[in-house]
Amino acid sequence: MPHKNIQIFDTTLRDGEQTPGVSFTPEMKIDIARQLDRLGVDVIEAGFPISSAGDKASVKDIASLGLDCTVCGLARVIKADIDACIDSDVKMVHTFVSTSDIQREHTIKKTREEVVEMAINAVEYIKGHGLECMFSAMDATRTDTDYLISIARAVEDAGADIINIPDTVGVSSPPTMRMLVSDVYRSVRIPIAVHCHNDFGLAVANSLAAVESGASQIQVTMNSLGERAGNADLSQTVMTLESVYGLETGIKTKYLVETARLIERYSGIQIPPTQPIIGANAFSHESGIHSHGVIKESKTFEPGIMTPEMVGHQRRLVLGKHTGKHAVKKILNDAGLEPSDKELNAILERVKDLGDKGKKVTDVDLYAITEAVMGEV
Ligand code: KIV
Ligand code: ZN
Repeated sequence: MPHKNIQIFDTTLRDGEQTPGVSFTPEMKIDIARQLDRLGVDVIEAGFPISSAGDKASVKDIASLGLDCTVCGLARVIKADIDACIDSDVKMVHTFVSTSDIQREHTIKKTREEVVEMAINAVEYIKGHGLECMFSAMDATRTDTDYLISIARAVEDAGADIINIPDTVGVSSPPTMRMLVSDVYRSVRIPIAVHCHNDFGLAVANSLAAVESGASQIQVTMNSLGERAGNADLSQTVMTLESVYGLETGIKTKYLVETARLIERYSGIQIPPTQPIIGANAFSHESGIHSHGVIKESKTFEPGIMTPEMVGHQRRLVLGKHTGKHAVKKILNDAGLEPSDKELNAILERVKDLGDKGKKVTDVDLYAITEAVMGEV
């Protein structure tokens, strides 16, 4: 049985900023943190303080804003990293170490036993400073499961408050994630989070599978930003948990689109029009059949369990070669124009003609066509 309340841990300012080409200024980071807090996330991972003086200063600035959410800093299982988080005044330290053989052998060059010892020392050090502690077994989905469970138990005994299972290179699948999270869930008493990357486009699906097996916190980013193909998308994860699974996240979903647009502006990464929930086309209809349907009853060609209003979006009827009479009539009537049937047919013909030429028909085009037709007829 999934938990009814799922916590949202946002890492837009940390993993999101690791998107190639993205670098937020300190002022942008403050704006983003305030907006995420307004959105209602539970935790903001504000940065990786040891990585640069600027990052450390920004994490400290965010920690001093007095936000409702918990502000967290990232640290390897190294004292200097943890000290940088402590100096930044965060309430929570997210400490991580590679647990898969491939990463252990090629990056940190430590034995399994040494990794467990480093993890325990880091957790005890964080807890000794009275801070909340999240422990991440980096590359957990490529880690031997018995070893993953043994390190999870060890950090739990050392005082960790929550254990995170990252799918660091996005290789998991929903059935695998379901099994792995179940195994860890049965082995520890502390809550479980997951952190899924999107290399195969499965980050949201894998996060949902984890929830099905008992994870109670999901790590996400706005607009799917993050290393390589990004992280699990906040908007998609939250709306699916709320509208499809019937669970609660505490996110004020009406702020999703405005938050996504702020991140788009600051990151310089454009939201694709077809992006679910927040993309420009998410509630747009072009085909005559669809437009006619939604004019009569929006649920005909929209999910219904999610409306544009719920996410701060707007329904749009878009004109093109697939447009039908009902959409043109509705747009013109809404603008106070009452073309006759004959005029409407002539307007539609010209709209389709432009669409057939591969042109996007804007409202300005429609009004120019209408004026020409109504003036002519
Ligand atoms: O992808 C990853 O494993 C991470 C860790 C730091 C949690 O970002
Ligand atoms: Zn990551």
